[in-house]
Amino acid sequence: MDFKASLCAALSNASGLPCDQIEGMLETPPNPEIGDFALPCFKLAKVMKKAPAAIAAELYEKLGSIEGFSKIEPVGGYLNFFTDRSSFAKTVIERVLREGDKFGSSDEGAGRNVCVEYSSINIAKPFGIHHITTTVLGHSLKRIYDHLGFKTVSINHLGDWGTQFGKMIVAYNRWGDREKIENGDSMRELVALYVKFHEEAEKEPSLNDEARAAFHRIEMHEPADWELFQWFKEVTLKDVARVYDLLGVDFDSYNGESFYEDKMPAIIKELADKGVSKIDNGMTIVDLSEYDMPPCIILKSDGSTIYATRDIAAAKYRKETYDFYKSLYVVAYQQNLHFRQFFKVLELMGYEWAKDCVHVNFGMISMEDTTFSTRKGNAIYLEDVLNTAIDKTLAIIEEKSPNLDNKAEVARQVGVGALVFSVLYNNRIKDYTFSWDKSLNFDGETGPYAQYTYARSCSVLRKAADAGVSLDFTAADIDFAVLSDEASGNLLRAIDTLPEAIVQASEKYEPYIISRKVIEMCSCFNKFYYDNRIMDDDPAVRNARLALTEAARTAIKVGLFLVGLEAPERM
Ligand code: ARG
Repeated sequence: MDFKASLCAALSNASGLPCDQIEGMLETPPNPEIGDFALPCFKLAKVMKKAPAAIAAELYEKLGSIEGFSKIEPVGGYLNFFTDRSSFAKTVIERVLREGDKFGSSDEGAGRNVCVEYSSINIAKPFGIHHITTTVLGHSLKRIYDHLGFKTVSINHLGDWGTQFGKMIVAYNRWGDREKIENGDSMRELVALYVKFHEEAEKEPSLNDEARAAFHRIEMHEPADWELFQWFKEVTLKDVARVYDLLGVDFDSYNGESFYEDKMPAIIKELADKGVSKIDNGMTIVDLSEYDMPPCIILKSDGSTIYATRDIAAAKYRKETYDFYKSLYVVAYQQNLHFRQFFKVLELMGYEWAKDCVHVNFGMISMEDTTFSTRKGNAIYLEDVLNTAIDKTLAIIEEKSPNLDNKAEVARQVGVGALVFSVLYNNRIKDYTFSWDKSLNFDGETGPYAQYTYARSCSVLRKAADAGVSLDFTAADIDFAVLSDEASGNLLRAIDTLPEAIVQASEKYEPYIISRKVIEMCSCFNKFYYDNRIMDDDPAVRNARLALTEAARTAIKVGLFLVGLEAPERM
């Protein structure tokens, strides 16, 4: 039953206005006591040439009854509509049971590709806590777009080019220990070499010349240096794979900055040929003063390319390779200017698809906990934070559920989930201070709370099955009318609005819209669970409540998945 469609058809009949116009006028009242839909009649005043209250009265007369609705109420200038509780319950539950894990999915994106670039770590630099937001936000957006039928391409645009790799070569050749790097914490060993280079170069400035020469050899693909450079990448990627595995994150492409090196000459030529770039003080730049921005530098005076040049090449490559409908860049707001600049350059090059490139920016994260301090200039490694989250969660589980079977596995799912959920619970642009107490609170608006509620719904169904009740609801005798109580109604409405939350999250690039919906569904489920006796003696009542439990379980799982959380069945 499509309530809105039925309502629009009836209203269109009564008013003579087209359905889609009516649909645009309908509102959802702030609270279901007032109604499930409302028509503010002042919006019709112009066409019907009457006062809103008179319009409400007239339409009320003409409407009579509407299929799927139990009551219509004219109140002042409004017409309020109440869906029939039991057909609403039936509609929602049947849809969720039919769609299962695909609940809320659509084919909106069919035939369209979306590039989602996220994480984009730097080789031989720490994979720090500051990288968590791009990593989990991008991963969630990828899942959301996949759910809506788009074909996504996830890209880790590695920071793997630049003079620092010359420094790494010099440092490695002098002080490096292959064994130690390969068998230990590779990334930390490489970072330590990089730090040592800078200390030593203070005393021995000629090291910098050596580093420049070494980077030049990389640019020339001199075999020994090129191999070392590739090896730095290889060991770093092997190391970070542990973090990606913990988070359940993966990528279709690891084409980073170095991948575009051989595509630079063509871009530089194109910019010159199209008259977009010019030479200024020995540099090649794109003047953006007309757009109130500093110039975008294409080539430095020594002829080397920079970050922006490689981004221009990468954007073009992505368009040519993936023919994207949208290309998202999940990168911190510190780079706002950079993105505005190079998107503008793409536009000046005549690429109308520049408008489809979106900088999905986000605020900074800091840690409340002092055991992770950056005061000494040390980076906070994301892997350490994740492992701490898992350890802390394990301690909580040991206390709460000492008899749980696979504690270590659940601690991983819940510990990691706590961190991810807390990052994705707020508007992305806000700066955010992470707190262990808040994130790991099983009773707060947290990942653990949502996962715990999910496990509870599983347990209700498990117990029913153990008691010999069939969970095949297609054939069951179900009395949907018993789901007219307030708690059940609120739960049904929360579930019913998940699909539109998913669409909104995709339009605004804001997974928090889904996380909040998950919490709403969970608190409604818990209220329903406490208010109602699910295993009622009357089979039709029991089946209705079990079917609603199954619908809630499914919807919560879908929501958790879309923000990147696993859903443990026992906790
Ligand atoms: N590697 C960069 C960093 O860690 C982020 C890269 C962002 N993406 C891009 N296409 N510029 O700061």
